[in-house]
Amino acid sequence: MLLLGITGGIAAYKSAELARLAVKKGAVVQVVMTENAKNFITPLTMRTLTGRPVYSSLFDFSYSSATMHIDLAREPDITVVAPATANLLGKVASGIADDLLSTVLLAVDLKKRPVLLAPSMNTAMLHHPSVRNNIDVLRRRGYFFADPLSGDLACGDVGEGRMAEPEQILRLIEDKLAVHPDFNGLTVMITAGPTREPLDPVRFLSNRSSGKMGYELARAAKERGARVLLISGPTFLEPPQGIELYYVESAREMHAVVMEKRSLADIIIKTAAVADFRPEDIQMQKIKKKKGLNELSIKLTRNPDILKELGLLKGDYFLVGFAAETENLIANARKKLYDKNLDLIVANDLTQKGAGFLEETNKVSLIYRDGSVEDIPLMTKFELSHLILDRILNWKKS
Ligand code: CTP
Repeated sequence: MLLLGITGGIAAYKSAELARLAVKKGAVVQVVMTENAKNFITPLTMRTLTGRPVYSSLFDFSYSSATMHIDLAREPDITVVAPATANLLGKVASGIADDLLSTVLLAVDLKKRPVLLAPSMNTAMLHHPSVRNNIDVLRRRGYFFADPLSGDLACGDVGEGRMAEPEQILRLIEDKLAVHPDFNGLTVMITAGPTREPLDPVRFLSNRSSGKMGYELARAAKERGARVLLISGPTFLEPPQGIELYYVESAREMHAVVMEKRSLADIIIKTAAVADFRPEDIQMQKIKKKKGLNELSIKLTRNPDILKELGLLKGDYFLVGFAAETENLIANARKKLYDKNLDLIVANDLTQKGAGFLEETNKVSLIYRDGSVEDIPLMTKFELSHLILDRILNWKKS
């Protein structure tokens, strides 16, 4: 089912065409309109095109259950808002739920169901810092956008702000819902998250990695039909369904599982932020702050470099590393690519806005073995995961 949200903008008339095209393709289309949208297009038009009742109010007693907003958020495979006005974007970005559509949008679980927004407004509104910021925030949270086009606007201006054409929106919908089983028969091993290096029974050394990039890669590879082995350090993330998950704590534990399973893998992707050092001695009892003890030194010793070892052993697998850098991004990452004998390295500039450990998005450059560099624009970690998988598959085919 496709939930089509329509808000009060002149482009609402194009939503009728979008609904018609989707129905023609066999989709069940459920329309939710705002009160303002009804000034531009009638519920009767949408009801006739979709063959289903059109909802607008949170308190519509013709609806069979008392939790209409939750049902409407859970049932669709995808939710599309076209047109999405500046007001609607602002409400979603701020968590405001003051009518049926905004309440449904707040109830959609973005991890399970994509939401596609098709903004439509005057150029000045689109470029207003508040609207820009809202779009930025929403992108980082994982909302997808059908970017507005440039051209003649209803107000007489010429510029950016026209809603994307219904055919383009439909293509994006199909793309988001499509399952390309192009990884069928391939096994992908992914390491994710930080490692924890114990100091005593209650303390450890670790880093800021959230594990998001690795978990999104696992989700994307699973979606595309791969057998997925995810070797994860401690994270707070919900693992994707249907994968083989191995929880580890320290770098040495990660090393042991990777080495045991590596022969199964066709592709190994190492997103984990592995601690390079660990405390040499793990105290059996909690370290106490004894009187007079004003300084404490911890001697660290090197952990195995798992990726380097995989590169040295280099079997038939395609080996991908990640490089998180704060300076000389390309040069440092390229050095790691050659030192560790990788096929591809994903260079992550931690100083860029929207990139790095705790973000939903990432901004990276891909560096290949032949030395070529591909700069990738800011995108969600899930979109980036698919792009990386596309590149790996291209290489395997070539
Ligand atoms: N890596 C690994 N084992 C380690 C350290 C790193 O497998 N002990 C892997 C990471 O999973 C990542 C890549 O190596 O894919 C790059 O990690 P990074 O920490 O950026 O590089 P290092 O080689 O540790 O270099 P440096 O800390 O000097 O930047």
